[in-house]
Amino acid sequence: MSVIKAVILAAGAGTRMKSEKPKVIHKIMDKTMLDYVIESAIEAGATEICVVVGHGKEAVIDSVKYPVTFVTQEKQLGTGHAVMQTSDFIGTQGQVFVLFGDTPLITGASLSKLREYHDMNNHGVTVLSTVVDNSNGYGRIIRSDEGDFLKSVEHKDATKTERKVKEINSGMYIYNASALKDSLDKLTNDNSQGEYYLPDTLESIMNDGLKVEAMKIFDYEEILGVNSKVQLFEATSIIRHRINYAWMEAGVTMIDANQVYIGKDVELSKEVTIMPGTIIEGKTSIGWGTTIGPNTKIIDSHIGEFTKIDQSTVLNSKIGNHTTIGPFAYIRPNSDIGNHIKVGDFVEIKNATIKDHTKISHLTYIGDADVGEYVNFGCGTVVVNYDGKSKHRSVIGDHAFIGCNTNLISPVIVESNAYTAAGSTITKTVPKDALAIARARQENKLEWVKKRQ
Ligand code: UD1
Ligand code: CA
Repeated sequence: MSVIKAVILAAGAGTRMKSEKPKVIHKIMDKTMLDYVIESAIEAGATEICVVVGHGKEAVIDSVKYPVTFVTQEKQLGTGHAVMQTSDFIGTQGQVFVLFGDTPLITGASLSKLREYHDMNNHGVTVLSTVVDNSNGYGRIIRSDEGDFLKSVEHKDATKTERKVKEINSGMYIYNASALKDSLDKLTNDNSQGEYYLPDTLESIMNDGLKVEAMKIFDYEEILGVNSKVQLFEATSIIRHRINYAWMEAGVTMIDANQVYIGKDVELSKEVTIMPGTIIEGKTSIGWGTTIGPNTKIIDSHIGEFTKIDQSTVLNSKIGNHTTIGPFAYIRPNSDIGNHIKVGDFVEIKNATIKDHTKISHLTYIGDADVGEYVNFGCGTVVVNYDGKSKHRSVIGDHAFIGCNTNLISPVIVESNAYTAAGSTITKTVPKDALAIARARQENKLEWVKKRQ
């Protein structure tokens, strides 16, 4: 099979976003618009991708998560001019998709259909089109009385009759590389905007004797471009809807799917319940029977089965089975929390491992520590991991009992089965089976209050 490439245009400024950031790096949940387009191209079989950058190009280049080639378009002289900059990349073999970086709703499935239709009919180029109620501003697809494709004309260059046409050019194409290359050589900017229009390649390729067609898709949402923050919100709603409905079809329960945000790369099991106000992003997986939310954020984490996470944040961590987290817990990166664990209210855990059956019920900070199984933390424990210069790590053995308001000054070891008395500040190893008391003794000054008067 011949090579499939994709050229993605992303050089424009996007002034209507009213932002310092280039348009295509604005995010829809956890991904940039440009990354959505790149992923759809990959899903449709593209193995080599070239992104045309211009405005804010450093930021665009930094944002891309995939191995792609970048080509700079110094001046934005039109979509045709942008593609001309990639002529070395295009070559003369195989096929090339041309896409926009600001149409993140296009799916890999629709691009695959475009390619199949193109191949089946032996076209030189196939443009993706759709029919809309209000075609204002778009390029129009002009057809003969028999319905054959004739050309695509820009709104500003269209006649009164042409402007009545509701079938629009989506700006997305698949070309035979050689046809694209030949037609780019012939492009001119002899039009009302003085731009090199990519749509002019359609007529030009047809004039060279190759077949050209527009393939209509019915879901016009897929071709919607994002030019403003309002359209960014609308695109977010559409993607959120697609993802949430697919998960509900797969057996996930959502109490209110309008208040749940799940990134495209998240994996949910059946029998997961998601409560309102929940955001789950990045490379996250949630196991069978687990309940998440309300008001919970989970990013890049793996959550086991039959676990409950209530009104909490979990970042870049792993949580086991039958564990409860929250309400109001903050699980920071590199935490590995096992099975049958209770992490209660106002508990913060960072870069720590917690073994099975341990209880950390309330108001506790555990940073940079290795905690065994069946440990019990009293209320208000602090692992004092930072001395102002560096972080130190502590170890708490199996079945240890940490009294309320204990400070564990790291690095320190509490061996297995050991106890610390409430209010202790522990600076030395607590041996196995020992009780450490590290606090001032109580002294009662009798009748002190009366004498004070
Ligand atoms: C384009 C099409 C129009 C189509 C519409 C669909 C042209 C001339 N017109 O119009 O037929 O109906 O899309 O949305 O192609 N870009 C560059 N460099 C440039 C110019 C544009 O990289 O020199 C990029 C922009 O950043 C943007 C995309 O190409 O992502 C589209 O450009 P834009 O100017 O928005 O084209 P439209 O006027 O919308
Ligand atoms: Ca546009």
